[in-house]
Amino acid sequence: RVWICTAQAQEQLKWNDIKKSGRVTAKVDGREVLVFYHEGKFYAMDSRCYHEGGPLCLGEIEDINGQACIVCPWHKYKITLETGEGLYEGINPLEPSPTPQWQSKGVKQRIHKVTVDNGNVYVGPPDFSVSFDSDYFAEKVLRNS
Ligand code: FES
Repeated sequence: RVWICTAQAQEQLKWNDIKKSGRVTAKVDGREVLVFYHEGKFYAMDSRCYHEGGPLCLGEIEDINGQACIVCPWHKYKITLETGEGLYEGINPLEPSPTPQWQSKGVKQRIHKVTVDNGNVYVGPPDFSVSFDSDYFAEKVLRNS
């Protein structure tokens, strides 16, 4: 079984669900968070894409330069699971034979801390002293719920 623990509440999720699909959506302090289990590791991030709020739970995971990324189903933005960085393929026109290279836009998606202890998985609590682009959509979902 997987426990999603937050500052205020604890939510219990079925281990089989996350194992089967590799991901599960949970509420952490009322905020929708997507928890991934990918190649033996847990990751958690805001469930709505920082670009326009696309549902990342429906995205595919791709390996880009050795980094596992979720690909948003709406406009195919790539977000690293580990750091929440937005990746894009850029060309440096000053190079003699320019080839597209993956580059980072910086951290765009809020990543949530995951701790595994004694077979239980704990997510959060979020650190709101820092803000990220994905906060806008996470808070929008909160306002509308
Ligand atoms: Fe995710 Fe646009 S909403 S790429």
